[in-house]
Amino acid sequence: MKLVHTTEELRAAMRPYNSPAFVPTMGNLHDGHLNLVRSAKPLGDLVVSSIFVNRLQFAPHEDFDSYPRTLKADCDRLEQAGCDIVFAPLEKELYPVPQLFKVHPPGEIGDILEGHFRPGFFIGVCTVVMKLFQCVFSEAKGPRYALFGKKDYQQQMVIKRMVQQYAMPITVIAGETQRAADGLALSSRNGYLSEPERAEAVQLSLTLRTLAREALATAEAMPQQLNALESRAMHALATRGWQPDYITVRRRADLLAPQAADAVTPESLVVLGAARLGNTRLIDNFEV
Ligand code: PAF
Repeated sequence: MKLVHTTEELRAAMRPYNSPAFVPTMGNLHDGHLNLVRSAKPLGDLVVSSIFVNRLQFAPHEDFDSYPRTLKADCDRLEQAGCDIVFAPLEKELYPVPQLFKVHPPGEIGDILEGHFRPGFFIGVCTVVMKLFQCVFSEAKGPRYALFGKKDYQQQMVIKRMVQQYAMPITVIAGETQRAADGLALSSRNGYLSEPERAEAVQLSLTLRTLAREALATAEAMPQQLNALESRAMHALATRGWQPDYITVRRRADLLAPQAADAVTPESLVVLGAARLGNTRLIDNFEV
């Protein structure tokens, strides 16, 4: 496996190959990332992963400075998972001048849920992903694949739409969320949790599972009863000491609330949640 830090080195290393499968990350890797790398392996003729903590997607009060930088351990894990090239650019490589051109996802998908609670987040994500795609794919000759985890459900949807609307010749694949034995979704931010917080953290996924079950049971009565179920789930978490941003049932197609006119089926819904436990903000979701 090769570790490169500049776009020039990346392109030189990729030259003999035709069809890259790309797994962008911010490092501090867990099995969710490694599973994406393993899924990428059979897709093309080389697997590229990037490690870049992207300042643009963090608000000033968020954890950009403290986000764990673990390059050596990440490279060891990527190599074991079958990655061929790791692209770990310095900030001045991706942002040599202030990044004034930015990709603004449309409000319908970019300003709801995560976009509402983290204003500017998807602008930062789309802008860096667009740049990373330019670095990784610009000289590819065969099919191009990019893999994102479903734990960031809205993110993978936003990126799929960006790729579609900019007519980028890239197939975006969403990998299933990997979970710890108790059901907690794997996340780089789980490392921030204290021992008691880690024991409590599974309640987010349990709450979402319960809501998914309840939503199914009341599918006929949707959407009238959903608001009440969502409020009850938020309240249940709040009484355990969480600060929920949202716990909600949405349509998979567009992440909007199901409407009375919709033919609601379990396959058409996703339950999503974001909540803070102490200083750590966790997100999770289940396709119903
Ligand atoms: O999901 C992440 O790790 C990041 O948002 C991404 C897609 C690598 C962009 O910085």
